[in-house]
Amino acid sequence: MAARLNTSLQNTLSLLNPFNTLLTKKPFSSRNSFRFSKKLPSSPRRALYCTSSLESHENPDTFVLTTPLYYVNAPPHMGSAYTTIAADSIARFQRLLGKKVIFITGTDEHGEKIATSAAANGRNPSEHCDLISQSYRTLWKELDIAYDKFVRTTDPKHEAIVKEFYDRVFANGDIYRADYEGLYCVNCEEYKDEKELLENNCCPVHQMPCVARKEDNYFFALSKYQKPLEEVLSQNPRFVQPAYRLNEVQTWIKSGLRDFSISRALVDWGIPVPNDDKQTIYVWFDALLGYISALTEDNEQQNLDTAVSLGWPASLHLIGKDILRFHAVYWPAMLMSAGLNLPKMVFGHGFLTKDGMKMGKSLGNTLEPFELVQKFGPDAVRYFFIREVEFGNDGDYSEDRFIKIVNAHLANTIGNLLNRTLGLLKKNCESTLVVDSTVAAEGVPLKDTVEKLVEKARTNYESLSLSTACEAVLEIGNAGNAYMDQRAPWMLFKQGGVSAEAAAKDLVIILEVMRIIAVALSPIAPCLSLKIYSQLGFSNDQFNSITWDDTKWGELKEGQVMAQASPVFVRIELEAAEKDEEEKKKPKDSKKKGKAKVKVEQQPQTVTEA
Ligand code: MSP
Repeated sequence: MAARLNTSLQNTLSLLNPFNTLLTKKPFSSRNSFRFSKKLPSSPRRALYCTSSLESHENPDTFVLTTPLYYVNAPPHMGSAYTTIAADSIARFQRLLGKKVIFITGTDEHGEKIATSAAANGRNPSEHCDLISQSYRTLWKELDIAYDKFVRTTDPKHEAIVKEFYDRVFANGDIYRADYEGLYCVNCEEYKDEKELLENNCCPVHQMPCVARKEDNYFFALSKYQKPLEEVLSQNPRFVQPAYRLNEVQTWIKSGLRDFSISRALVDWGIPVPNDDKQTIYVWFDALLGYISALTEDNEQQNLDTAVSLGWPASLHLIGKDILRFHAVYWPAMLMSAGLNLPKMVFGHGFLTKDGMKMGKSLGNTLEPFELVQKFGPDAVRYFFIREVEFGNDGDYSEDRFIKIVNAHLANTIGNLLNRTLGLLKKNCESTLVVDSTVAAEGVPLKDTVEKLVEKARTNYESLSLSTACEAVLEIGNAGNAYMDQRAPWMLFKQGGVSAEAAAKDLVIILEVMRIIAVALSPIAPCLSLKIYSQLGFSNDQFNSITWDDTKWGELKEGQVMAQASPVFVRIELEAAEKDEEEKKKPKDSKKKGKAKVKVEQQPQTVTEA
């Protein structure tokens, strides 16, 4: 069935409001007070041209980043957690740079999909939303996600802003009423083009058939923004990241933008359309505004101008690639229509997959993040997904690989090195540093190596190459281990005299390396970094006030006393390999399903002498 749009009203619209008539910004208080200007006023013009930097033009010291607002049709899975872990790592890095960060996350709670899932669970929609929204907050806590704002699209403050935004767009002549007939994917909450569907009209993302729908809806005049969008992308190609996703967006735009319906007549669970309570606002036209409504305080008088003044435009929208069209095409056009500035960057990351298929609630092939974090702890989960999946690309999960990576990197390269060094320091120097780390490193090439790797980590964090940033930090650990092995301080201590003095200096050098690793890894594995800092004799407050400048060599001072050594990351012992072999030998019905057994090794990493 071909999608059919009654365009008569659209034609009227373009006559009434040809493209170059953008609204002047003030006053916005009533629809009648809008005036139209033939010239582009300065503010919207600025909105069309984004800078290539992630810093906000308006305030370079502020960094506003968002995750998508998650649907509450089901509790979070590892795919939803992935975006949030990445966002939290970026937010923590930006805080280290001294930026005022506003990290926004939240839940998307309206629409048919949510209402259906509430009913299926025997709850009313609002109870259902409270419950599932809370499960997101709980998971974020477990994963050490330090968000600044958690917005719910059912918040009254959000509703007020959506309505005001709708009024602005309407006043700009960009909303009209028409019939629509097409194929709808409820999971995407989107009408689909027949040509993008699989056999039996199946949605390629959710692998479920789309349903034929005919509705009388309000439409947003997206087609009017084709040229301005082309201009935005050609003037600021970094608006869409990674670069290879830009082509995709440009192709959509070039192939012609069709107006899209922004209301639903058949869905009660939503924000009523202003002046027509028989329709509710389409979930995307509602949820995207959460990025702005989140900026307000709960007890404030809510309006768009206040919200915008508190931090808009966002520096970075972090999203999965499946919702790129909404963020890189629909959203900028909506913002232009309302005379608001565009976000600086939209980054579309890849999918976590299982057997090559997107892990998701609709396909039911998810990985349980609560289980994972309880089993392995937040640092391991955060580290694995950031290190293992190149940010932007898809990545497959396997428990074997997970255990191998976190054991090798966190338990061995980092944890063991710290433990061995502190053990030697205790045994030979009463856990006290004999000299300043700057003095200890005089003429030692390791210091330069570390400085270069810190710089590599910083530039990669900045360009959102998070996996490479992790890799650089690990290389610092490798360099520290190589130094330890090459110098063999345990031997030098045995020789006594000048050799023992040199060995004591070596330990200071390695501990300084550990301190730098702790700072540089803190965006990804904050708990682990805090543990390292504590063992180096620093207080929690000292850790909490670190900045990226603390990656500079030289903060460990003579006389500083180290804390009692204990493993900062406990090695995970996998029994699965043996168990799986046993399982294979058992009759089918006695086999336990799926899960590998994991034993957390309680033995401390020992201070070895080689
Ligand atoms: N509610 C909309 C977003 C509105 S934003 C104003 C939505 N919600 S969602 O819960 O379906 O998805 C939220 C995010 O999770 C999306 O960025 C999506 O790409 C991401 N992921 C969902 N499954 C994923 C994987 N398997 N892997 C990685 N990310 C995935 O879309």
